[in-house]
Amino acid sequence: MTEQLDTTGRLRHLTTLEGLPRDVLVRLLDRAQQLQEQGNAGASMRGVLAGKAICTLFFEPSTRTRSSFQLAAMRLGADVLNFDASASSTTKGETAIDTLKNIEAMGVRGFVVRHQADGAVAALAQDANVGTALVNAGDGRKSHPTQGLLDMLTLRQAKGDDFAAIKVLIVGDVRHSRVARSDLQALRTLGARNIRICGPDALLPDDATLQGCQVTADLDAALDGVDAVMMLRLQRERMQEGLISSIDDYHRDYGLTAERLRRAARDAVVLHPGPMNRGVEIDDAVADGAQSLILRQVSNGVAVRMAVLEELLG
Ligand code: CP
Repeated sequence: MTEQLDTTGRLRHLTTLEGLPRDVLVRLLDRAQQLQEQGNAGASMRGVLAGKAICTLFFEPSTRTRSSFQLAAMRLGADVLNFDASASSTTKGETAIDTLKNIEAMGVRGFVVRHQADGAVAALAQDANVGTALVNAGDGRKSHPTQGLLDMLTLRQAKGDDFAAIKVLIVGDVRHSRVARSDLQALRTLGARNIRICGPDALLPDDATLQGCQVTADLDAALDGVDAVMMLRLQRERMQEGLISSIDDYHRDYGLTAERLRRAARDAVVLHPGPMNRGVEIDDAVADGAQSLILRQVSNGVAVRMAVLEELLG
């Protein structure tokens, strides 16, 4: 695998949070916090990436990730090229690497890539020219590193930076979730020791993903006293695969309702990466309630992505 860090410890690519040193992770979170505060104070950062071109190369749909990377790049002064796979020559059979190489030949040096295959972005990074930087915007079920970072920034703002003191619960389809994998990697690196996982057996991974976590299928028990609840999207295609019996059963057993949330700590916060299935894994009263940080996560996504692009290309 292409190394993510250069010999000085700076990022060359960001493909995964797995194995990313704590100091790099904290540096990105600190910088994102700083950029957010500077932005709120009206400072312009448009000089940081002026004259540089970034391409969002998405082979899967996205609302939050793609838009926030675009905004982040624009706020840093970069030229932004939005590649639409459905209207591109990939529909004629052109490969992802040929696509990247052709756009690279136009002078683009930063690529934000989402792809349906596990490991696709790291594979593309291996074939990119020296000096070209790739960011993984979600690959298969493997990794979504900037979502992991923005979730950590959101938790840190709400609960402080002593992750060892935070009880975190992740609920839902962990097995197919790149968000859950990146969150777990980041939580462990930052020192979280009390991580609970809740979901039906069929939606939990059977590999090392959950090592060190307390795992249960009982959501009421799992919620007891937690400081943060991270809900995951139920991927409805899992019903067709027969991994869950029905949406109603899923909501009954794993849906976060206002009543259930009362089992958590009084000041517990609720996160969800989006897109939400309202009335399935999360009720409106929770999603839009006082404990919800869901839109805060989205705001933090812009700052985190600015910090990542600045580190890679600034
Ligand atoms: N959280 C997330 O990745 O959302 P999008 O699929 O809309 O980018």
